Amino acid sequence: MWRASILTIFPDVFPGPLGASLAGKALAAGVWSLDVVDIRDFAADKHRTVDDTPAGGGPGMVMKADVLARAIDATATDSRPRLLLSPRGAPLTQARVEGLAGGSGLVLVCGRFEGVDERVIAARSLEEVSIGDYVLSGGEIAAMALIDACVRLLPGVMGAPVSGAEESFADGLLEYPQYTRPQLWDGRPIPEILTSGDHAKIAAWRRAEAERLTRERRPDLWAAFLRRFRSGSRTG
Ligand code: ADE
Repeated sequence: MWRASILTIFPDVFPGPLGASLAGKALAAGVWSLDVVDIRDFAADKHRTVDDTPAGGGPGMVMKADVLARAIDATATDSRPRLLLSPRGAPLTQARVEGLAGGSGLVLVCGRFEGVDERVIAARSLEEVSIGDYVLSGGEIAAMALIDACVRLLPGVMGAPVSGAEESFADGLLEYPQYTRPQLWDGRPIPEILTSGDHAKIAAWRRAEAERLTRERRPDLWAAFLRRFRSGSRTG
């Protein structure tokens, strides 16, 4: 079973959306497990303090190294990767998600306040991961996004296995446009080729549309795609 452990000061927000839909069904079916650890349970005082003022001054509060280290030591007793969700981290990619989904699970530390004492990041080998170049008020929503992205790749979670291989990013391209009945809606027809029954032509149209959308919307992905294509590799 793929195991996710989450360390947070807001344990009540989990499983949240991870308890619904495909991820929720897979959780109930025992495909993966979620264990939520309240960092406050590892505080040393009766006020259950987890933060303190920043050394050197400045605004906000910093998560204490000693409290967080105790929570990690009680939870991460195996070899799962330990990630700290943080806007400072390496940007999460589908390739990384695939790697994490292929392992035994994750230990996720949700940062809060102005940050986490740098010493516990080093001492407990926390790898910082970001879900995008914007700042959330804490790591909880980022942790949910990361787990959702991993869980949908676990064997047996997605209905049709091929839909994973065809989706956005699997080939470094954005997904082609989709349509369903009715044939004419609001004066807009479904592109004729899709109702032609010619599967080779449909595949070629979809490929061309995926390339067009990627070129128009994501020049960064398009450049990377062209580099791979020109070097003759489909995966590198
Ligand atoms: N915590 C706050 N902002 C974040 C981000 N962009 N990614 C991951 N964790 C975060």
